[in-house]
Amino acid sequence: MCGIVGYIGTKDSYPILIKGLHRLEYRGYDSAGISLITSNGDLVVYKAKGKVSSLEHDTADKDISGTIGIAHTRWATHGEPNATNAHPHYSESHNLTLVHNGIIENYKPLRTELEKNGLTFHSETDTEVLVQLIEYMQITHQCDTVTAVHLALKNVVGAYAIAILDKRNPNQLIAARKGSPLIIGVGKGNSTAGEGNAEFLLGSDATPIIEYTDQVIYLKDEEIAVLNRNGKCAITNLDSIQQTPQLQTLQMSLDELEKGGFQHFMLKEIYEQPNAIRTCMKGRIDPQNHDILLSGVIDHRDRFLNAKRIIICACGTSWHSALIGKYFIEEATKIPVEVEYASEFRYRNPVISKQDIVIAISQSGETADTLAAIQLAREKGCFVYGICNVIGSSIPRNTDSGTYIHVGPEIGVASTKAFTGQLTTLILFGLAIAKVRQTLDEQLFHQLVDDLMLIPEKMQWTLEHSKGIEQFARTFTYCKNFIYLGRGYNYPVALEGALKLKEISYIHAEGYPAAEMKHGPIALIDEEMPVVVIAPKRGLYDKVVSNIQEIKSRKGRIISIVTEGDTIVKNMSDYCIEIPDTRDSYAPLLAVIPLQMLAYYIAITKGRDVDQPRNLAKSVTVE
Ligand code: AGP
Ligand code: GLU
Repeated sequence: MCGIVGYIGTKDSYPILIKGLHRLEYRGYDSAGISLITSNGDLVVYKAKGKVSSLEHDTADKDISGTIGIAHTRWATHGEPNATNAHPHYSESHNLTLVHNGIIENYKPLRTELEKNGLTFHSETDTEVLVQLIEYMQITHQCDTVTAVHLALKNVVGAYAIAILDKRNPNQLIAARKGSPLIIGVGKGNSTAGEGNAEFLLGSDATPIIEYTDQVIYLKDEEIAVLNRNGKCAITNLDSIQQTPQLQTLQMSLDELEKGGFQHFMLKEIYEQPNAIRTCMKGRIDPQNHDILLSGVIDHRDRFLNAKRIIICACGTSWHSALIGKYFIEEATKIPVEVEYASEFRYRNPVISKQDIVIAISQSGETADTLAAIQLAREKGCFVYGICNVIGSSIPRNTDSGTYIHVGPEIGVASTKAFTGQLTTLILFGLAIAKVRQTLDEQLFHQLVDDLMLIPEKMQWTLEHSKGIEQFARTFTYCKNFIYLGRGYNYPVALEGALKLKEISYIHAEGYPAAEMKHGPIALIDEEMPVVVIAPKRGLYDKVVSNIQEIKSRKGRIISIVTEGDTIVKNMSDYCIEIPDTRDSYAPLLAVIPLQMLAYYIAITKGRDVDQPRNLAKSVTVE
């Protein structure tokens, strides 16, 4: 959701900023803009509705010189997506420009106040209030811009990551954050003492930065950074108390951000799953001893030993993985598990005690609702555990312990490898707690570990045997609705399959526990309705066979996911995809792959923008 890029250094800033915006496109946006202090000392702003490429097109004949600039992809929250509302926004005097990610909740009273004082607003955004307020503070307090930023931010309620240019000071870039992410890239030649040939980058995440440096500072909430051309980075909090920046090394490579020969990031990420899961398990499984080593659990052994309940908070796909995790963790550890939408949990004053463990699952580690849910849990004294992918993101930095899923950057908006990474981590997590609590007999524990190690190979097999989906997906391009069915561990897989289809093809789809059909949804079945059934051999297989029969009798078209060698369901199906046999609790790791492929191929036949579907953002950093 929205992206910020900034640059100050010795190179031309425009190409760096545009490339950075392209890297951030995956986050989802509806307009883009850039502001530069040109070599003539002008503070220019160029903005365009739509893609970054439109912005590039519009700036082809403009002055794009200069070595300092800020740029933005906007995901509109206040004011329609158009060029006027796009960022950057000017202050009244045109001495300042500002880009913003987040929401200024008290923008209305602030705007009214500023208008009363004679300021004119040009956009409908909450953001414009911020830049006007900063300048207003500067004039009324007769102070420098940095002080004015401090004063203005103290009056602001809401979430922000901002970057500011000041025409009168082309040697400094100002940045600040609260609730929305912002990372500073520290380029070569920099030192806090200040040396020549220095450069700094800014990014909403590391993707625009990694090409230039792997040295970063994660700006913390309510911190303001002043990045100087002489290589000095000064960070203060809102009370102007100096903070010590902590330099960290990014664990990301540029290759991970490229499509690597695939048509879309989503397809690349689907195919990456076997290796991603190997990396996820690396160092956490001891194959010789059939053992699990999860430091996040081992280091807090007593917490897990005494836990009375686990509550998992998440959104979207991460919520689906939580549902599957619930089944496994309860079975393995005998601790009751509840799964909550983070957006509901945070506002409903939940009954939680200090012996509860709250788990946040989030690919991005930045989802605003999930972050707020864990903040609430911490206020109530709970132990909070994070299961995230993006290293150094906000959720892992606000938890007591946790495990990274380590599947590498996920760029496609539709989550694929992060889902299977989350499932794998939840299994490792469940097994690690089971070991602490001794709730599984040794032989079963060893078998569960050994079976998990076979999953990457079985995923590879599934990928190879799912290629036929590309052919038959065309048959379903014109469908208006889809139903996905599963039972037990595969019910959440049905939800996930339906979400994938909705997100990238814009076809309406619903997932149900198969047995629920007869309580209402079966009324929807006719010869037009495709029904995807996840029916691997174990678990409630016989029951699912009866459910398929009920749909068949009403002429529904069946696409089934079955265990290799199955003939019963295969014979009842119009199309059938096989997955290798595995234990019931691990089947989701395989069964989801054909569903990801089905959604992908239907979407591309419909000509959809698979990696950046309409209206969606990769990380939902606003409420
Ligand atoms: C998944 O395909 C979605 N794009 C979305 O539901 C996503 O899973 C959700 O927004 C949660 O994101 P997170 O895992 O980064 O917190
Ligand atoms: N609230 C701001 C706007 O609507 C910023 C949105 C964003 O984060 O992109 O312009």
